[in-house]
Amino acid sequence: MTFVKNTWYVAAWSLEIGRHLTPRTILNENIVLYRIEDERVIAFLDVCPHRKLPLSQGRLKGDAIECGYHGVTFDYSGQCIRIPGQDHIPYSAKVVKKYAVAERMGMVWIWMGDEEDANEDDIFDLPQYHDPNWSAAHGDALEYDAHYMLLADNLCDPAHVSFVHQSTLGNEEGENIPVITKKDGNSVITHRWILDSNPIPIFQKFGDFKGKVDRWHYYYYYAPNIAIIDFGSADAGTGAPEGDRSNCIQIYACHFMTPVTETKTLDYWMHVKNFIPQDLTVNEKLSDQFRIAFAEDKEILEGCQREESASHTWRPIRLAIDKGPQRMRKIVDDLIAAEQPPEQPPE
Ligand code: FES
Ligand SMILES: [Fe+2]
Repeated sequence: MTFVKNTWYVAAWSLEIGRHLTPRTILNENIVLYRIEDERVIAFLDVCPHRKLPLSQGRLKGDAIECGYHGVTFDYSGQCIRIPGQDHIPYSAKVVKKYAVAERMGMVWIWMGDEEDANEDDIFDLPQYHDPNWSAAHGDALEYDAHYMLLADNLCDPAHVSFVHQSTLGNEEGENIPVITKKDGNSVITHRWILDSNPIPIFQKFGDFKGKVDRWHYYYYYAPNIAIIDFGSADAGTGAPEGDRSNCIQIYACHFMTPVTETKTLDYWMHVKNFIPQDLTVNEKLSDQFRIAFAEDKEILEGCQREESASHTWRPIRLAIDKGPQRMRKIVDDLIAAEQPPEQPPE
């Protein structure tokens, strides 16, 4: 299985990248990241073009990297500027690959295709992240021992919440509510409303609901690697399903997935909510609730991956709730197919 290359992935939280060499693996490619003196982030394939020592095992010298084996040195454009013991530096002496990198929403994004094809305007943005009426908090980079498509399935699938997250995000009142799926370009939107029901545990903790609520789940999946879960609740019968969200509690749970290998994924998650805590420990308490929920997803998806890796030959049964994941996978397959070189005609 291969990956979509021509897209932006999150490589790190911005705070993780500083004046030191940080190795990361993304789409099976080993990459070294660092910050130059003017604060920009630089990323190279993490290999010296001489004898292949990872550049991350070398030293940062000003804005350049000096290889730890023979001292060959590359400036931040990737060009070789020093070969100890010889004056002539061939023009072809440069790093094997340099990546386009940009920072948005407190994260370092990397374009995994050719650097010249990258367009920073294509980086995903959530307007509420920057809105002073909303409050954003970064979570963790949660590691899954699973292919990121298994996580993607899960993030096009509101139905699992009633069964996997009973102590945090769901309750049994959602069990039999059908899911509605829509495709919009390269995104899939899966949603359902659960009307006149009890608040879910997380909103019992953070909301102030006296009785029943109307609650929603909208899962926006932006292929191949971003999921934004819009969920919230309003007092039952106050018009939320018709569009009146004036008196609601609403959270965007954001997932930025970065495939590491075919069986390992990092999920950079954060939450953005419409209630601003005076007490910042509220953000941490909410993050802790998500940590409980995502640990539940991790256990489920790693279980699925173990069986998937065992290469069973039977076909899985299809359910109505699978429409969202199927549509998302078709989009991802088409994106991958569009990146393949055209087949050569037989000679
Ligand atoms: S391996 Fe890097 S300089 Fe020799
Ligand atoms: Fe989940």
